[in-house]
Amino acid sequence: MTRAKVQRQSKKEKRFILAPSILSADFGNLNNTLERIEKAGCKWVHIDVMDGHFVPNITLGPDIISSLRKNSGLFFDVHLMIEDPLKYAQAFADAGANQIGFHREIYNRNLKRITLMIKSIAKKVSIAVKPETPIDSLINVLPIVDMVLVMTVEPGFGGQKLLTPTINKVRDLSLLKEKMGLDFLIAVDGGINDKNILCVYTAGADVIVAGSSVFEKDKIEENIKKLYEAVNKQILYK
Ligand code: DX5
Ligand code: ZN
Repeated sequence: MTRAKVQRQSKKEKRFILAPSILSADFGNLNNTLERIEKAGCKWVHIDVMDGHFVPNITLGPDIISSLRKNSGLFFDVHLMIEDPLKYAQAFADAGANQIGFHREIYNRNLKRITLMIKSIAKKVSIAVKPETPIDSLINVLPIVDMVLVMTVEPGFGGQKLLTPTINKVRDLSLLKEKMGLDFLIAVDGGINDKNILCVYTAGADVIVAGSSVFEKDKIEENIKKLYEAVNKQILYK
């Protein structure tokens, strides 16, 4: 593919997907929450799974996802922050995950093989990197992943402040993607609000995960609208 063609293609296909992270939602009221975010214009929901080992926090497992699946048509983007993603990938896929994300830091060997195994189980696979993990460590799997999730905070908790050096990582990844002629989605996760969303979008993020800025004060509809508008009013109302 020529450079000009890659540039035209990446311009044409630049997407904007807002994926609310339910980590900051009311866990006793999740069905209703998913309905509200869907009505507010979102097509995705980001579900953070934590095991208390990979990160010092515990959230939810496949049973809750499976019960949410019964009432929701949203795209379930499941972000596994657990020590053995391969062991549980099938359970999460059976529960209704549309995409399974796992962390690069877990596997030092056989990364490509494991990524392909998770992709064959879940259909779509995402690879996540912590703020300190270099983009270069992903080179071998970039041609096979559906999404790269760039953590813009240390994983484990919602409500943290975005670490600004991670924006350069998004930019570098975006350039690398263009150079390699690939089409995976770039996602950012952590500390995104209506003040910095445009900056990460412009740096190359297609998928914006946002927790506390969506669920703040339970003003879900208003907060989502604000985030969409901060990028481009026309995206929601086109
Ligand atoms: C953190 C999670 C994030 C988190 C984002 O480990 O992966 O998805 O919920 O929350 P905010 O937007 O509040 O940083
Ligand atoms: Zn997440």
